[in-house]
Amino acid sequence: MDQSNQPKRARRRGRDLFARIKPLLDLGQTFCRALPRPVCLWLLNRFRYARGMGGIGIRFILWRRLAAACGDNVSVHESVWLRWPQFLSLGRNVSIHPLCYLDAQGCITIGNDVSIAHNVSVLSFEHDIGDLNVPIKDAPCLPRPVVIEDDVWIGAGARILGGVRIGTGSVIGAGAVVTRDVPAYSLAVGVPARPIRSRRPGAPGAAASSDTGAETA
Ligand SMILES: CC(C)(COP(=O)(O)OP(=O)(O)OC[C@H]1O[C@@H](n2cnc3c(N)ncnc32)[C@H](O)[C@@H]1OP(=O)(O)O)[C@@H](O)C(=O)NCCC(=O)NCCS
Repeated sequence: MDQSNQPKRARRRGRDLFARIKPLLDLGQTFCRALPRPVCLWLLNRFRYARGMGGIGIRFILWRRLAAACGDNVSVHESVWLRWPQFLSLGRNVSIHPLCYLDAQGCITIGNDVSIAHNVSVLSFEHDIGDLNVPIKDAPCLPRPVVIEDDVWIGAGARILGGVRIGTGSVIGAGAVVTRDVPAYSLAVGVPARPIRSRRPGAPGAAASSDTGAETA
């Protein structure tokens, strides 16, 4: 069907709604600050599956209380799992869609204006698999910090592995497994994810691998 003649609907921005209900959210944060941390963690588990704007508002208040940093207008949709919230830093205007799994044990930093589609994993540690005398499940965890810079869109089902930095303005294709740094303003797809082109107007097209990188920040 040709959609070119269809009228474009004005997009309802979450940030406008956020601005309108901010006094209410501030009140919730004041209340939450008075609660012990374990109680807030318990509440986060209780409200993980709460749907709609109410659920998003409650989770915002709790993430703000529990994370190392959390900017304005962060929408965490239902069924999102967050491990080690104290090692997670988020900027403003971040959306995290249903069924995502973030393990911040090794530290996760997410910038401003980041959209994470449903069913994405962000993992910030690896098991030490070097010692054959230790069962892998008993092997120590090695922290591998992850940085997702500003203005990034991560497609559905992508896996962001420990130790990578995703550069400003990048797009990660659905289902990608990101094992290496992604240069700024690149489009990276596949398993393992490779930048296939730069988003900058006029930049040369596809780059074969991250070794030849689309471009650097
Ligand atoms: C990455 C994406 C944005 C690329 O869109 P695009 O610029 O239109 O790219 P194209 O469709 O021209 O594809 C370019 C090449 O990359 C390949 N490609 C595109 N997306 C891919 C993906 N997710 N995984 C693997 N390869 C992919 C295409 O097959 C094509 O390869 P070819 O040149 O060998 O034919 C899009 O494919 C995507 O994955 N979007 C995410 C959608 C999503 O998760 N939405 C959730 C709701 S927020």
